[in-house]
Amino acid sequence: MIQVNNLRPLTGEGRRLFIETYGCQMNVGDSEIVVSIMQKEGYIYTENIEEADIILINTCSIRDNAEQRIWGRLADMRRLRKRKPTLLIGIIGCMAERLQGKLTEGELAVDIVAGPDTYRDLPRLVREADGGGKGINTLLSQEETYAEIAPVRLDKNGVSAYIAIMRGCNNFCSYCVVPYTRGRERSREASTIIAEARSLFENGYREVTLLGQNVNSYRTGDVDFPSLLKAVAEISPLLRVRFATSHPKDMSDKLLEVMASMPNICRAIHLPAQSGSSVMLERMNRKYTREWYLDRVAAIRRYMPDCAITTDLIAGFTGETEEDHKLTLSLMEEVGYEFAFMFKYSERPGTFAQRNLGDDIPEDIKTARLTEIINLQNKLSEASNKRDVGKEFEVLVEGTSKRSEEQLFGRTSQNKVVVFDRGNHTVGDYVRCRITGCSSATLFGEEIK
Ligand code: 5AD
Ligand code: SF4
Repeated sequence: MIQVNNLRPLTGEGRRLFIETYGCQMNVGDSEIVVSIMQKEGYIYTENIEEADIILINTCSIRDNAEQRIWGRLADMRRLRKRKPTLLIGIIGCMAERLQGKLTEGELAVDIVAGPDTYRDLPRLVREADGGGKGINTLLSQEETYAEIAPVRLDKNGVSAYIAIMRGCNNFCSYCVVPYTRGRERSREASTIIAEARSLFENGYREVTLLGQNVNSYRTGDVDFPSLLKAVAEISPLLRVRFATSHPKDMSDKLLEVMASMPNICRAIHLPAQSGSSVMLERMNRKYTREWYLDRVAAIRRYMPDCAITTDLIAGFTGETEEDHKLTLSLMEEVGYEFAFMFKYSERPGTFAQRNLGDDIPEDIKTARLTEIINLQNKLSEASNKRDVGKEFEVLVEGTSKRSEEQLFGRTSQNKVVVFDRGNHTVGDYVRCRITGCSSATLFGEEIK
């Protein structure tokens, strides 16, 4: 038995931990922190659910369908439990925070419930469950950033990694559950972020993505986001730096200046608009207007004419008229987004919108509007790809193409996928390619020798 100070046995004792992750990139990063914490306790990470002694499901609450998927997974787990009665099952992340003890009741009851700020407590929660009780902790923290925990990288490409630079959100967009499930915004100490990025680079990684709900409001002491970004980009010109997500209200010229001055900061900005109608933006509590948003887009283009702009859009938020919807479509045309995440509004319990505004757009109209938005975006993405044909890009190789062993795929600074003949190259190389063709989702290229 492995022991700490010869006093308390580690709870892990070689038991196998499986973790399944849903939702945003932040959750992917959190799962890597959880595995790190659990390995220190003697648990062994496994990718095979069949051999797991403990299964943790890292969950998302952003829309109802995200939660429904998790309930479906819990139903599947009953079969595994039957086969192995000692199996422990835990729900962690946003749904744990939102539903708390309710998850330990009823047919699909789990043994462990851990909110996003309680992962250091997981070993104790497992002990509670081992003792036949329920391990529940959903306390939110004002300070926890897991700053010094080295995440265990689960995504094995070995080229690109996420680094969480802050947690929580203070924006309270009226439709959004995140400020309730992830708590108050807090920034992680800059020196720990830079050290993590440097260590990734030294271990062969060539791209880091700095993550937060609103990275533009990052601050520790006198380090703001532009200065943090610059410090990370200065680690090496061979290290690409990305970030997500930027709130349009905080997108500053200072940030754009820093980006423009360093070619290894990627030419890609994810700038969620949510709607093209100022009336809807006000109701969403987004704190900017359509005009402000377009001004920020113009500033991006001024500093970096080749910068890709991507977005998030919500169709059918409460009170949305046909005219408001048309304004979203016209915003999309005006910006010419490279890519968008597009959603139907899903009312979330406890949010300002649910408590005060209602949900008055019928499902069929939400669906019809979303379809229009998706169709338009497909056209815009294809047009953007066609404009790239004939141009040259530096491609960072991430892996072998799914279609052919003879081809590699990688990304441009704009975050577009390029497929090209392998030549002598391997994962992690930078390859200069000329674009020779495209589909709506992929660019095809050839190496410039
Ligand atoms: N319904 C639909 N989409 C939502 N988002 C956040 N909350 C909701 C909701 N209640 C979307 C927003 C946000 C993205 C992460 O998810 O577009 O930017
Ligand atoms: Fe939700 Fe708005 Fe915070 Fe994004 S900025 S997580 S949409 S509340």
